Amino acid sequence: MKKYHQLLNFASNARKNAYAPYSHYTVGAAIEADNNKIYAGCNVENISYPCGTCAEESAISAMIADGACKIKRILITAGGDILISPCGACRQRIIEFSDENTEILLADEDEIKKILSINELLPFSFKEFRDDKY
Ligand code: THU
Repeated sequence: MKKYHQLLNFASNARKNAYAPYSHYTVGAAIEADNNKIYAGCNVENISYPCGTCAEESAISAMIADGACKIKRILITAGGDILISPCGACRQRIIEFSDENTEILLADEDEIKKILSINELLPFSFKEFRDDKY
């Protein structure tokens, strides 16, 4: 797990900038893309609650804006006693840019607690229009 130290650092640093005045639940995410670059994101809430965005979502946007589109691994970190796990919508967002080797690393503030595949998180997903059905 130590080798993912850098990814946890990026996610934790982004989490420090999370804008979560409504839930007070701050989340950080960091993606290692197939170009070996790291893209971080945090949750950004809004007074109009549905306008808020998740940490995974903003990390994915940063990756796409930089021209990468394959997630080698994504680390998500949050505080509290219950381990963070991506929401349903973010599982769908992650699978769009994943393959069967993509690792989803779930971390608390200090360390990675769980590593899962996207198929474990989102089994029997919608694939109708994908040409690389895995
Ligand atoms: N949140 C994330 O950023 N990622 C998740 O996977 C779960 C939830 C955020 C959204 C909201 O700002 C806060 O956590 C509480 O739900």
